[in-house]
Amino acid sequence: MNYEEMTDKSNIPTHIAIIMDGNGRWAKKRLMPRSVGHKAGADMLKRIVRKCNDMGVKYLTVYAFSTENWKRPDEEVSLLMGLIVTYLQKEVKEMNENNVRIGAIGDIEKLPKKAYDELKKAMEITKDNTGVVFSLALNYGFRDDLSHAIKNMMKENIDIEKIDDETAKKYLYTSYMPDPDLIIRTGGEIRLSNFMLYEASYSEFYFCDTLWPEFDEEQLCKAIYEYQQRDRRFGNVK
Ligand code: FPP
Repeated sequence: MNYEEMTDKSNIPTHIAIIMDGNGRWAKKRLMPRSVGHKAGADMLKRIVRKCNDMGVKYLTVYAFSTENWKRPDEEVSLLMGLIVTYLQKEVKEMNENNVRIGAIGDIEKLPKKAYDELKKAMEITKDNTGVVFSLALNYGFRDDLSHAIKNMMKENIDIEKIDDETAKKYLYTSYMPDPDLIIRTGGEIRLSNFMLYEASYSEFYFCDTLWPEFDEEQLCKAIYEYQQRDRRFGNVK
């Protein structure tokens, strides 16, 4: 039996978030430039979005470009931004036909104009769709989200006494989505790298050595299967 068959179709995580790591190493193993790894990563992302939608995952959020990724060489930053543009130009039509709704978290206004415009267009075209909400974390980092949320709370002069968990959540980029049930990180590192630190409070974690361009549908099902074996108590007793 494979993991696809072993997963319990009645217990699919509502929200899966993914740290897609290992594109560079995947390319290096093949003696190819990092750009080839990122392109292969974008191709796998397309498959994973489709699979999540087919399986009934309601929210899929992927860490596509962090606030720290600007430190990479200019050439790689431009390549990633260009890939986001071509990815959206190529895939939005099909995603729209498949009822996928595109979203974004992060300070997207600071993205290059072309990437920003393409993203806004994709979000507008798909805004009424009811399938998986596929969010790209772009120029996203939780620490930045925290200061962005505090600034907005202060601008609105909200009553300090009224600030609780629920109010705080409303000011985060992630306000439109439930917290992730399952956070996957590919590529062998065991850390969150500033990704959804607040929202991850009760998430289940799945770390694997598979490099992102090799993280296929069966690997996704394996992660979901392992998630289904966990005992989620949310601080309560069983
Ligand atoms: C980390 O791998 C990956 C990224 C920083 C970017 C993720 C981008 C993609 C999957 C492709 C493009 C995305 C879209 C939305 C079209 P790494 O390059 O740091 O890998 P390494 O650790 O092996 O060097």
